[in-house]
Amino acid sequence: MKAISIGLLGLGTVGSGVVQIIESHQDKLMHQIGCPIQIKKILVNDLTKERAVHIDRNMLTDNPEDVIYNPEVDVVIEVMGGIEKTREYLLQALKNKKQVITANKDLMALYGPELLEVATENGCDLFYEASVAGGIPILRGLVDGLSSDRITKMMGIVNGTTNFILTKMSKDGSAYEDVLKEAQDLGFAESDPTADVEGLDAARKMAILATLGFSMNVGLEDVSVEGITKISEEDLAYSKKLGYTMKLIGVASRSNDKVEVSVQPSLLPETHPLASVNNEYNAVYVYGEAVGETMFYGPGAGSLPTATAVVSDLVVALKNMRLGVNGRSAIAPQYPKALKGPEE
Ligand code: NAP
Ligand code: HSE
Repeated sequence: MKAISIGLLGLGTVGSGVVQIIESHQDKLMHQIGCPIQIKKILVNDLTKERAVHIDRNMLTDNPEDVIYNPEVDVVIEVMGGIEKTREYLLQALKNKKQVITANKDLMALYGPELLEVATENGCDLFYEASVAGGIPILRGLVDGLSSDRITKMMGIVNGTTNFILTKMSKDGSAYEDVLKEAQDLGFAESDPTADVEGLDAARKMAILATLGFSMNVGLEDVSVEGITKISEEDLAYSKKLGYTMKLIGVASRSNDKVEVSVQPSLLPETHPLASVNNEYNAVYVYGEAVGETMFYGPGAGSLPTATAVVSDLVVALKNMRLGVNGRSAIAPQYPKALKGPEE
């Protein structure tokens, strides 16, 4: 039975989790896809660095071509982050008929439509479940589970780092800089945490959610954004005294053809369902005209939760390969091509 070969771009927080899950869940994965999965090559920056997982060091390379042009690699998993260079790598991988999985919301919010189009042209799938809300299967929930409904509102906490910071600052009175450092050490924050604390990471995720939920191309430029950097320990203590909890909340709403998307710090009454979502956990409330209120909740960042989403995408990609339907699969969430954006 021929094994399916994976090429990884990145072996940091998420990449290490992917290696760990592929190894420790091999039996379950094999049962689902009918053949073993093996990791062939892994792109990293620093070949000498100590790694969080045990790997054969011969698999490491600092040459991207060893992954994206490798004839033995069937699926490329991108967990390195970055935008322009990463876009190039993934375009090349798709043109080389590799199935592609990414956890990269920065890339998807900017170049999602282009990458998905190139994937389809080349008979490939491009999956990106891990790009929004870490381990919560929110994208599949929207495009599969709620596909028959008309969604009018999504609201929630979609950034783990800022939720971790706000939780620790208000519950323990911890200092902003200390908790940010802790979030970085735990692997929740982006390599440059500015995107987290300025609300940009949440804005990118809200743009992806709005695009899929409303079947309308919503770009980052359509999202109004404010982060948490202006919030002081005193603000949080005072809100707490008054019975409120501060959260960084993303909202996307649609009425008729008008779409509004925003990310901003908001005071919630302590009894509000989102007020009890703490630490790196995320939650997204989705309202559909037929289904009514639904809530998706779980870990929004971190190695194994995020890797679960990545490897679940891998299972679907491999099932598609077995059926010969890559690039034609209804399961891969597609950005709407013909529909207008909110400004048009
Ligand atoms: P990370 O810990 O910083 O790991 C990045 C990995 O990619 C490292 O192994 C690094 O190599 C490698 N790398 C980066 N740039 C490279 C380049 N130009 N050439 C070769 N190798 C390169 O990042 P992460 O937290 O795993 O995040 C990866 C992606 O997943 C990002 O897009 C992030 O937004 C997304 N994501 C992260 C989380 C999370 O909780 N961390 C959750 C959801 C989505 P070295 O190890 O040699 O430095
Ligand atoms: N930095 C991101 C966060 C990682 O804290 O939510 C998950 O996308």
